[in-house]
Amino acid sequence: MQKSFVMLKPDAVLRRLTGKILTRFEERGLQILAAKMMIIPRAQAEEHYAEHQEKPFFGDLVEYITSGPVLAMVIEGDECISLIRKMVGATNPQEADLGTIRGDFAIQTGRNIVHASDSPASAEREIALFFQDDEICKYQLPDQELVYEEP
Ligand code: GTP
Ligand code: MG
Repeated sequence: MQKSFVMLKPDAVLRRLTGKILTRFEERGLQILAAKMMIIPRAQAEEHYAEHQEKPFFGDLVEYITSGPVLAMVIEGDECISLIRKMVGATNPQEADLGTIRGDFAIQTGRNIVHASDSPASAEREIALFFQDDEICKYQLPDQELVYEEP
């Protein structure tokens, strides 16, 4: 099973969309292993988005992501990193397909409401940046044989 780091950004929280978005992940059959509401310290935000340090939008991105509470999560499921990226949709919501989270709830790149890891290496790095090992719950869902052919 794969783990992804998923974060509902401040606009999602302030627009009261957390329940709707979490429902999509749960209904897909994915498992939420950890979740916490937090205001990200600036240094942690800069580290999270370090790959974009040289981009012209970096300052705005850090301002945005630290501007209010986020819901940081670890989500588990078979091949869930690419699955969740598909559910999230294109970075620019104008290009995101309808039915994706960004395609249904967002309009601009700088307010695109959700983050999801883009690779196994990113997931590992991001989970470690936001969660201690003992904050990640290990538990069995009762319906795994209904979601997976081979649980
Ligand atoms: P994340 O899941 O948040 O990492 O988004 P992504 O992987 O779809 O896109 P990427 O990593 O390339 O960019 C990270 C974030 O920076 C985006 O989600 C946007 O919030 C923001 N961003 C990217 N490009 C732009 C831009 O051109 N302008 C602005 N204002 N923000 C941008
Ligand atoms: Mg990214």
